[in-house]
Amino acid sequence: MRCIAHRGFAGLYPENTLTAVRQAAERADMIEVDVRQCRSGDPVVIHDETVDRVTDSTGSVADISLATLQSMDVLGTGEGVPSLEAVLRTVPDGVGLNLELKEPDLVEPVIDLLDAFDTEILLSSFDVETLAAARDLDPSIDRALLVDSSSEAAIERAASLDCEAIHPHWRLVDFALLERAHRSDLNVNVWPISDPERTAEYEKMGVDGVIVEEPAGCR
Ligand code: G3P
Ligand code: MG
Repeated sequence: MRCIAHRGFAGLYPENTLTAVRQAAERADMIEVDVRQCRSGDPVVIHDETVDRVTDSTGSVADISLATLQSMDVLGTGEGVPSLEAVLRTVPDGVGLNLELKEPDLVEPVIDLLDAFDTEILLSSFDVETLAAARDLDPSIDRALLVDSSSEAAIERAASLDCEAIHPHWRLVDFALLERAHRSDLNVNVWPISDPERTAEYEKMGVDGVIVEEPAGCR
């Protein structure tokens, strides 16, 4: 079972920072980060639509320049909001990146950027159109549909988008869902898991990956 570090093991490290990526790479098979666009359209790594919660500043990410985002202090680390390019440069060989695309317009700039890197990539999104656009632009990059409600339709939707995986919220996961997903050749990566005992339970159930807050239960 694969261990995917949610926002770079956000339970332990400052979420979506280069520090988290460096630290998470020691224990995770793959690191999940959230991607948005700054004012110039460059992809940056931050969860919320605004910088208010995680930085010493305020405003919408989409209205702020890359240089300004990079000069902010994220969660008291002294580090700025990283560009996706910086994250790609930071992830060591052998560790994958799960890029959660938070906005539809990101597909093209993200895929353009990925061309220059060999990192194993899994693109994920709650948004079907985003995944369809990614498939049309570069079908060779793995995709996963994020699911937070009604898993019934989700499996068909993910299969019709030629996804590699579905990423259901843990509340939706049971043996029936696993069986249906596997029958459709979809891996199942469950999120968010904060209890190491749950990690062991999901492994026994036959889940393919866990998107976890902390590395306990990972390598
Ligand atoms: O990719 C799984 C998870 O990150 C989705 O929710 O809000 O933590 O980005 P969120
Ligand atoms: Mg996310």
